[in-house]
This record gives sequence, C-alpha cells and structure tokens, in this order.
Amino acid sequence: MKQRRTEHDELSFGFFYPTGKTNFLFSDEAASTRPAFTAENMIALAQAAEEAGFDAMFLADNWSGHQRAAELGGHQSPGYHATLTAMALLAATKHIGVISSLHTTHHRPAHVARMGATVDAFSDGRWGWNIVAGFSADEAALFGEEFVEHDLRYKMAAEFVDIVLALWKEQEPIDFQGEFYQVKGRIKLPRPVQQPHPLLVNAGASPAGTAFAAKYCDQLVTLGTGEDQLRRLDAQLAELTGGERYVAPTPFSMAIVRDGDGEAEEIYDRLLQSLNKEATFEIASDVLGGIHTAKEMYEQMGEQEAMMAFGSGKGVLQLIGTPEQVAETLISAKRNTGATNVLINFPLWSPEELRGFRPVLELLREAGVWSPPETRGYSW
Ligand SMILES: Cc1cc2nc3c(=O)[nH]c(=O)nc-3n(C[C@H](O)[C@H](O)[C@H](O)COP(=O)(O)O)c2cc1C
Repeated sequence: MKQRRTEHDELSFGFFYPTGKTNFLFSDEAASTRPAFTAENMIALAQAAEEAGFDAMFLADNWSGHQRAAELGGHQSPGYHATLTAMALLAATKHIGVISSLHTTHHRPAHVARMGATVDAFSDGRWGWNIVAGFSADEAALFGEEFVEHDLRYKMAAEFVDIVLALWKEQEPIDFQGEFYQVKGRIKLPRPVQQPHPLLVNAGASPAGTAFAAKYCDQLVTLGTGEDQLRRLDAQLAELTGGERYVAPTPFSMAIVRDGDGEAEEIYDRLLQSLNKEATFEIASDVLGGIHTAKEMYEQMGEQEAMMAFGSGKGVLQLIGTPEQVAETLISAKRNTGATNVLINFPLWSPEELRGFRPVLELLREAGVWSPPETRGYSW
C-alpha cells in the first residue's frame, strides 16, 4: 500500500500519462511520431515510469469530443477512459500510484465510491482520485444536463465528496440528506485499502477551487509555476488550512531533457514549427474560458497571442535543457517555494523519454531533494 509522506523536505514526481498523442505542445510532429495506443505500448510506458522513479501517473479525462480539429490531429486524443485505463496500468505495475480523473458532475456518489473502492482494493492501495467538477458546457450537454455555474459546481462537488468518503468509511448504511444528493444505504465490499481514504487530488485554482483543495485534497495541481506564483499558492493554502492539514502544491510542467547543450531547446523550437493552430485554438478556447489560472496567466496578452502561448506550453514550468539545467530549476523550486510534488508532461513521451529523465533525478538525489520511491516505502 502507498503511504502518505510525513516529511516534505524532498520532491516526488508524477508522470502526466498521455491521454492523447499530445497534451501540451499541440505539435503535429509530436502527434504523428508518438507510439500507438495499444495495450502493449501503454503498459510499456507505465512500466518505464515506474522504473524511472516516478511516484505516480496522473490520468486526465473528460467526456466530450467536441474539439474536432484537435481530435483529428491526435491532440488530446484518443482519450481512453481514465479509470478503466488505471485498472490496466495498475495490473501491469507493482508500486507506482495511478491517479485518475473522475467527475463529480455527471456521476452519482455511489458510482465513484464503488469504482474508487474497486481500483484501490485491486491495486492494494495505489489509486488516487483527481476530483473534477467539469468545466465545459459541451460536456454537460452530452449528459443532457444544464451547465452548472462555477462556484455552485464546487459546492455540489463538496457534498458529493462528503458522501463518497462516508460510503468508503461507514460499514453501516448511511442516511445522507443533502442539498443536492440524497443517499441511503451502503456500498458492498470491497472498501478502499488506503486509510483514511485514497489519495485525493484537485487542479482548481479559483478561490472556490483552492478552498475545495484545502478542505479535501492531498495534492493541488497548479498551472501557476513561476516561483512567485507558487509562493502565493503556499500562502493561500496555509491560510485556508490553518496549518491543520497538508496539501502538496504540485506544479504542472513540461519536460524535454537532452545531454547536448541547446539540444532540448532545438527540439522544442522544432516542435513549435508544427504547432497545429486550429487544434490549439480549439483546446485553448475551452481551457482559457474554463480554467482560472490559465485565464489569469494570459490576461495581459491578446486572445490570439494567449492561445498560441498556451499551445506552446509557455507558462507551465518548462523543464527544457540538459539534466543539469533541469535539475537546477527543480532544486530552486524546491528550495524557494513549498512545491513538493511535480507533475510532468513529456511532449515526446515514450519509454525511452521517461528513462532519459532518470539522470535528472540522480542529480536531485545528490542535492538531497529526492530519494528513490523504494527507499521511502513507496509513499506518494
Ligand atoms: C493540470 C490540470 C489538469 C486538469 N485535469 C482535468 C481533467 O482531467 N478533467 C477535467 O474535467 N478537468 C481537469 N482540469 C480542470 C480543473 O479540474 C477545473 O475544472 C478547472 O481548473 C476550473 O476550476 P478553477 O476555476 O477552480 O480553476 C485540470 C486542470 C489543470 C490545471
């Protein structure tokens, strides 16, 4: 079973498992050269992440295929169902965690309680739930639902999570008469293995999203990756939790690591040459319209410029360079901010690309800010 860490003096790493040929850098070159999503390739990728020293894989997910140009180009597509994929990846690995995104909106609490209990028990306590409330009207329409207003979504999500936690914990039937959900009874066994509950993650950044994370979550993924932004998040979390609980600030980043000086930058520039503008605009208008930090980050720019910056991965923590340069950025983030966990998206993801990250981890080990998962009981 994975344990929560009690010390936070080191970094841990999540691999943003590709739920599509590209997730950041919507480059046609990257999309056309990534491995196919066969069971064999997907499992090899998960095993490489485990071997390389990642603590977890993070699987994003949403439902609606309304971004047609992006989808046809392989950008954020094909997107397998995250929790179904999690089962397969957990079956093929031994200790790495798998965090899968499951919506509160569109599900009922008992759905998530049973799915989560099943995956966590099956994997002997290696599952985490990225709690998402949905941010797209197209997705709501797919379920024949009204798109719920932003803060109300979080209020409903809070009640939803309270019920899921009760269904996981209570052996006797519950009787929950809430404002949005009414639930009587209990779920059958199994119950989650992790105690007091599986790892909970969120990536909200609005005041309501941050307050939600502060109340419920173990990790808060943020697009705000400059050191100043990260320090602001630390302060916000400290105020919201009153120091009562620990929430790991988790910058979202993008990595290209190569030994030669300037080699990684050259690859990044080359990938930008094939940035699919139509796909970028489709995805960016969805995300910039719906994700608070993204909106804030690009506020100063014009719309077109903001969309291109978003599609190029500007504004997420860029880990592009030699192992030494990338290690330096991470050591600085660890020493100067409260970041304790980093979620990494590799535009050129493949098993070799993941193994190529290990030299960075070795440098972090020498600097005293990372230790291999096996030496700390495979904690999250
Ligand atoms: C790195 C990252 C990953 C996310 N993953 C998902 C996801 O898999 N599915 C989803 O529906 N929303 C996802 N979101 C969106 C958030 O869950 C949230 O809906 C959005 O940030 C809007 O909330 P906010 O206004 O509090 O920021 C993600 C956001 C970020 C920054």
